[in-house]
Amino acid sequence: MIKEYINNNKERFLDELFELLKIESVSADSKFKEEVDKAANWLVEEFKKLKLDNVEKIKTKGHPIVFAEKILDKSYPTILVYGHYDVQPADPYELWDSPPFEPTIKNNKIYARGACDDKGQMYMHLKAYETLNKVGDIKFNIKFMIEGEEECGSDSLEEFVVQNKEKLSADVIIISDTSIIDNENPSITIGLRGLSYMEVELTGPNRDLHSGTYGGAVNNPINELCKIISSLKDDKGKILIPRFYDDVKNFDDNTRDDINKAPFNLSEFKSHIDINEIYGEQGYTTVERIGTRPTLDVNGIWGGYINEGAKTVLPSKAYAKISMRLVSNQSSKKISKLFSDHLKKICPESCKIKVTEHHGGEPCVVNTNTLGYKAAFKAFKDIWKKEPVPTFDGGSIPIVALFKKELGLDSILMGFGLDEDAIHSPNESYGLFNFYKGIETITAFYNNFASNEK
Ligand code: BES
Ligand code: MN
Ligand code: MN
Repeated sequence: MIKEYINNNKERFLDELFELLKIESVSADSKFKEEVDKAANWLVEEFKKLKLDNVEKIKTKGHPIVFAEKILDKSYPTILVYGHYDVQPADPYELWDSPPFEPTIKNNKIYARGACDDKGQMYMHLKAYETLNKVGDIKFNIKFMIEGEEECGSDSLEEFVVQNKEKLSADVIIISDTSIIDNENPSITIGLRGLSYMEVELTGPNRDLHSGTYGGAVNNPINELCKIISSLKDDKGKILIPRFYDDVKNFDDNTRDDINKAPFNLSEFKSHIDINEIYGEQGYTTVERIGTRPTLDVNGIWGGYINEGAKTVLPSKAYAKISMRLVSNQSSKKISKLFSDHLKKICPESCKIKVTEHHGGEPCVVNTNTLGYKAAFKAFKDIWKKEPVPTFDGGSIPIVALFKKELGLDSILMGFGLDEDAIHSPNESYGLFNFYKGIETITAFYNNFASNEK
């Protein structure tokens, strides 16, 4: 019945998703503010069509949060669905094979910014609910909370969660905003990394100088910034900021073996991103490096003259954006401070340094001994005919740790994306197989959770 309903409505589901994908809801860039608002309005209408109650577009200091719920019976378990309707900037546009906000199907995949992260994945929940409403027997209450600031730090949502604990009371949170290993090997994410995101500004002389008349006698802030950055890691890939690893938990050998049991194809990993050799912290496998170890990476570096031709200049300024992915008990605030203190300490007298912190977030680990996890496990097993593998993902969803802290709730990270979906990159995609199979799996999760609890 469920499969049939999804199959009979598959074209319409896709058409609807395309409407959402056409909206340019880039949250990081104020130029798109109206579009972000339009996406929120669009969701409001969808929730109304689903006959949900208390459908609201909640204004915040930033972008709106969309809330909707259906409380059928207070004695039923309540499922809170979280997702985000905002997307990353589509730049660089010229690298897209088709325009990012004109969704296109090619090779059985939907190509568009947000196809996977997270419009396509979030929308599966609305369609799963619709499906059960039409052909199922709903024995659970549902609440939807879809935000528009995930890609820029979830500041407004944090405040909203702290102030609306009663409104958000639930028995489980379900999020589809992560990935599976591949379409033959379903997995459930049980860990996400945290994040500290820093910006560094180095100033040398008070103006750009002639690199001949001054060069060699005045420190160059770009040279110096490169030196500082390269001193932050040793040649074994270990981060050299003092006390950086204080709160990193080392897993015992058994747990490490378990983590490394997850199917992983090294040659595919390399060929997908066209690298000849992998790189990382010595003593750890690629799966461990991504899921269980912290990182330090330059995200962008600029300064001086970068236009056509050569300009002989000794620049006044150098900048870099640097992110650190965090694990186990590392705290974003603490790591940001260690980073900032260390850089100020090692910056020589010949330059001035300014370090600022952007948004951050805490890492999380999901408890697998819960009804929610079991419901997700069984959903995969029944629908995919294969037991899902627990995995540690490298990305971050900072709000998950906050949900645990403020609402006391575990989030089930049941995502259906693939690494090859190229989220945040040009030509982001989402497989039609994953979209439809995901909807079916989510209906199974809802049902399993409802019957588990009662
Ligand atoms: N959905 C991603 C996070 C993700 C992707 C987790 C793949 C696991 C697998 C999310 O939208 C995201 O991009 N998060 C940001 C953090 C945020 C603070 C900007 C990230 O991980 O960079
Ligand atoms: Mn996302
Ligand atoms: Mn994202």
